[in-house]
Amino acid sequence: MILLIAFGVLLQEVLVNSQEETPTEVEPIPREPLYNYKNLNLPEEHIPYFLHSNRHIAMACKQDSHCPYKKHLAYLKSCWGYEKSCKSEFRFGYPICNYVDVGWTDSIESAQEIFWRQADFGYAKERLNEMRTLCQPVEAGDSWLACSRYLQHCRATNLYIDLRTAKRNHDRFAELQAYTPLGFRPIEDGKCDIVIEKPTYLMKLDAGVNMYHHFCDFINLYITQHVNNSFSTDVNIVMWDTSSYGYGDLFSETWKAFTDYDIIHLKTYDSKRVCFKEVVFSLLPRMRYGLFYNTPLISGCQNTGLFRAFSQHVLHRLNITQAGPKEGKIRITILARSTEYRKILNQDELVKALKTVSAFDVQVVDYKYKKLGFLDQLRITHNTDIFVGMHGAGLTHLLFLPDWATVFELYNCEDERCYLDLARLRGIHYVTWQKKNKIFPQDKGHHPTLGEHPKFTNYSFDVEEFMYLVLQVADQVTQHPKWPFKKKRDEL
Ligand SMILES: *[C@@H]1O[C@H](CO)[C@@H](O)[C@H](O)[C@H]1NC(C)=O
Ligand SMILES: *[C@@H]1O[C@H](CO)[C@@H](O)[C@H](O)[C@H]1NC(C)=O
Ligand SMILES: *[C@@H]1O[C@H](CO)[C@@H](O)[C@H](O)[C@H]1NC(C)=O
Repeated sequence: MILLIAFGVLLQEVLVNSQEETPTEVEPIPREPLYNYKNLNLPEEHIPYFLHSNRHIAMACKQDSHCPYKKHLAYLKSCWGYEKSCKSEFRFGYPICNYVDVGWTDSIESAQEIFWRQADFGYAKERLNEMRTLCQPVEAGDSWLACSRYLQHCRATNLYIDLRTAKRNHDRFAELQAYTPLGFRPIEDGKCDIVIEKPTYLMKLDAGVNMYHHFCDFINLYITQHVNNSFSTDVNIVMWDTSSYGYGDLFSETWKAFTDYDIIHLKTYDSKRVCFKEVVFSLLPRMRYGLFYNTPLISGCQNTGLFRAFSQHVLHRLNITQAGPKEGKIRITILARSTEYRKILNQDELVKALKTVSAFDVQVVDYKYKKLGFLDQLRITHNTDIFVGMHGAGLTHLLFLPDWATVFELYNCEDERCYLDLARLRGIHYVTWQKKNKIFPQDKGHHPTLGEHPKFTNYSFDVEEFMYLVLQVADQVTQHPKWPFKKKRDEL
């Protein structure tokens, strides 16, 4: 009875609300939308979070019959977590901690908070809190510079870079090192050979030939976009590189999620004085206590909203869609390697065993550059429920698995943390080989300089143990709260 009354009250409210809304709906339809909503190009799930801190767009949407996001206007309390106005109960996500890492703290709640600050949107919040103005303009047209601690992230206007005598070297990690105050207004006083009007990200990139390292770049750019609250692709990206080398990039399609233009090497401006009206220095992928390379992470915790949002954002902008899963089927992808080391010697045998299980849709892929385009690789990965592969940068694909998936690092080659941590950040299950006596290295391995090394040989695997592990993982997948057929299964 109480329930019924509550429902009655609710119903009344709904009716009142819809009556209130009626007048807006009968307003004459403006011919032009009040905002170019298409340009936002964000995943539907992110829209209310974006509107939370872009109230002018929310207001436009409210008054605009062309706005496709009206249904999100009721959820404007939703927030990523770093906004000053964000109440923690409306956050995009919450990490889960299964136990307390006593080296860090003493309660589950504080463990969650630590993990959230280390690797979730709390990381963006800390950078925002640190922002200080270092260079205050006196008059319009002066330069302005504001940075977070240790200059990890900066925003500048009217930035002047004099590259007339730039000396290029072969050291990728050298820096431009001479900074001075200016006695002039760069743009107004006509001191620039080139003026870049378009907002520009300056970025020091990690290795573009390795997916693990390069995605460290992309996620840092994404975090920076959150810190700056701007996700437009009408921006330049300039590589902050002091060397004369070009930049090898095997994943360049990914840039399309961030910019409509080609990446610009800083050397493009050599011998010129170049001025940027609006610049953001991206967070660095390889800095101390940066994300995610060598980040010290509290153990026992997983699932950041940040990495999930990153995955959704990139997949959305690259138009990679989910075509499944199929009822009664589990899609298994085995990542084969065509490199000299860490080959699965009895791969055919393992595949044959998998194929005896009718519920398994098995495919073997070799994500080799130029053999299979990166977007096609992402499409396969995103449409995988169990992703199996040897330790190696290709496992970075786990970032783009669906939420219910499990990554099975067949063998971690004694590098235990790397992909376990990445899977924790992304919030998907991770499994690896446990029984040393059921794995058979070809030999002791041949590191180019260090001698014997477990990453530098090939392996075969006990088939029975392999099947036992995969069947366990399959259970894990179909029990996952986000597995679409879970409810039906439970009803049976
Ligand atoms: C950073 O945010 C400001 C303020 O919203 C915006 O004007 C600027 O274009 C953004 N910068 C970049 C590089 O996107
Ligand atoms: C996105 O991909 C789907 C197929 O997966 C295709 O039908 C659609 O046209 C694509 N959209 C864009 C904007 O490219
Ligand atoms: C691993 O397998 C590859 C390809 O079959 C081969 O080239 C390489 O020499 C093998 N490595 C070892 C350590 O035997």
